[in-house]
Formats: sequence, structure tokens, C-alpha cells
Amino acid sequence: MTDLAGRRVLVTGGAGFLGSYVCTRLEALGCEVSIPRRKDVDLTEQLAVRNLMKHEHPDIVVHLAAEVGGIGANRANPGRYFYANAAMGINVIEESRRAGVEKLVQVGTVCAYPKYTTVPFNEEHLWDGYPEETNAPYGIAKKSLLVMLQAYRDQYDFNGIYLLPVNLYGPRDNFDLETSHVIPALIRKFVAARDSGAPAVEVWGTGSASREFLYVEDAARAIVLATERYDGSEPVNVGAGREISIRDLVETIASITGYEGGIRWDTTRPDGQPRRMLDTSRALQYFGFEAEVDLEHGLRRTVQWWQEHQPK
Ligand SMILES: NC(=O)c1ccc[n+]([C@@H]2O[C@H](COP(=O)([O-])OP(=O)(O)OC[C@H]3O[C@@H](n4cnc5c(N)ncnc54)[C@H](OP(=O)(O)O)[C@@H]3O)[C@@H](O)[C@H]2O)c1
Repeated sequence: MTDLAGRRVLVTGGAGFLGSYVCTRLEALGCEVSIPRRKDVDLTEQLAVRNLMKHEHPDIVVHLAAEVGGIGANRANPGRYFYANAAMGINVIEESRRAGVEKLVQVGTVCAYPKYTTVPFNEEHLWDGYPEETNAPYGIAKKSLLVMLQAYRDQYDFNGIYLLPVNLYGPRDNFDLETSHVIPALIRKFVAARDSGAPAVEVWGTGSASREFLYVEDAARAIVLATERYDGSEPVNVGAGREISIRDLVETIASITGYEGGIRWDTTRPDGQPRRMLDTSRALQYFGFEAEVDLEHGLRRTVQWWQEHQPK
């Protein structure tokens, strides 16, 4: 058990979507939080990370910085996503070790799982096959950091833990249609279609794929609980433990936004991974985490936030 009060915690990506919620929680627990911004410190540059550690000398590092996006962004940037996510992780882990950081929390991704694996995804099956092709470079770059942390634990006794969150959503998500994930993209499209009276909304794929979504505040709570309570080498899934088909998700969002037109499925577009749902029993057992916000509730809050914050 790590008492976080008064500790210096460096949160990379702390100004991002998930990071902002993690920082709020850490501050509420009395941590001294520092957030390096990309414009000041490019974490893909090892020397910049070394200087950052010298300057901040954190007790704990929560590494959330990443280059991320939905299917479209992953297809457009496979090389960049591999490089940026691998380089950032390698630099942050190595320089944390060199700086004598007590504990590092690495956030991975559900995209690391094999394309075809038993549902719900169990951490024991992480290495049983190749990930879904569109997000494999991102997923594998992040998965390699699990191996790095396990090797650093063996060789240097470095305390690095590894969490695998499922797809997140919530207020302040990325609503840029070029790079957004499925939920903000759908909310934006349906709100715009409702307001313009569009007769139909086009959505990608067949609707048959399934996904699991975790409300961002639940994810932040899980990360902070793990920072306090978990010190093992095994990766731990962080999810809601509930699966929904994209078709049901689309219909739910259409209904919450009050859109009454039609839905057209563009079946020439990829569905991505066929099914996604995590086995969340380890998180409960190791650090007492269970999701609290149900999907409909979380979607209502997210739609409301977008309606209040969308550019006029
Ligand atoms: N969103 C999801 O559905 C999801 C699901 C599973 C896992 N995750 C993981 O959760 C973490 C946070 O994701 P997010 O959705 O919150 O992403 P996000 O909003 O895009 O935030 C990413 C942050 O990374 C920072 N960053 C990117 N490149 C950097 C660089 N070269 N140097 C320094 N900082 C850099 C950015 O800093 P600036 O703000 O300064 O530009 C940004 O704040 C990531 O590790 C992601 O893989 C996310």
C-alpha cells in the first residue's frame, strides 16, 4: 500500500482526456502533481526526459502520454503510432529507473489483445495471437512496455505496474472527427444531424462488432487505486465488464441525442476487432476496482457536455 498524500507525482499526458481526471483525483489525495506538456518536453526525446526527471525528481510516475486515435487515425499513422508510443514509454521507464523513481504506472490498451481470443479477454491470453491489424502497431508498441517493465523488475527490482484499460469515453473526450474514437464521433454526428434536420446519418461498418466502454472517471479511479494498492508484475485489465454491439450503441446515442432520422450503415468501412470485452476480475481482486457508472448514464453526461461545449 502506497500512501499518496504529500508525494510528488509526475503525470505524463496529465493535460489529456484521461490524464485530467487522474490529476484531479491525485490532487484530492494531497499529491504534488506535475504535468509536463508536449510543447515543453517531447517525451520521444530521451535527453528531454532525463532533464525532466532531474528537474521534477518525482517519487511516482504515472505514464499516460500517448499518440492515440480511432480506426481512421490508426490506419493513417501506423508508423508514427508505433514509434511515438514505443519511444515515449522506453524513455519514461528507463529515465524513471535512472532517477530512482519508487513506482511507475504504465497505461497500456485493450488494442494489445489478439484479434481472436476468448471473450471476456483474460490477461493470461494477452500473448496468444496477433492484434487486430488496424491498431496492431499502437497495441504492440504499448504491449512491449509490459515486457520492459517485467524485465526491469527482474533485473533492477524496479516497481512498474501495467494496466490495460478498455475504450474510454466521457466529457472532455476528443471530438475531432479525424482522430476521435467511436463514441465522441457518433455523438458529434447525431447532434449535428438532429440540429440540421438531416434525413439520415451514415456510420462505419456493419454494426455487428461489439465493444466495452468505461466511463473516464471510473478509469481514473482505477488508475489511482492501482497506484495506491498494486505492486505486482502481472498486467491488469481495467474495464466495465459489459459488452454492447455497435448497432445498439448507435441506437442508444441516436435516442439520447433526440435524433429521429434514419441510420445508414457503410459496410465498405471496417468493423475493427469483432468483439471486445475484458475479464475484470483481477482488478477487483488486486486493488478493489469495480466500475460504477453505467453506459447510459455516462453517455447522457457526455452528450450534455458536448452540447454545452461544441463550437458554435
Ligand atoms: N482514450 C481511450 O479510449 C483509451 C483507452 C485505453 C487506453 N488509453 C490510454 O490512456 C492514455 C491517455 O489517453 P487519452 O485518450 O487521454 O489521450 P489524449 O487525450 O490524447 O492525451 C494524450 C496526452 O499525451 C501527451 N503527449 C502526446 N505526445 C507527447 C509527446 N511526444 N511528448 C509529451 N507528451 C505527449 C499530450 O500532451 P499535451 O496535452 O501537452 O499535448 C496529451 O495530453 C494513453 O496512454 C492511451 O493509450 C486510452
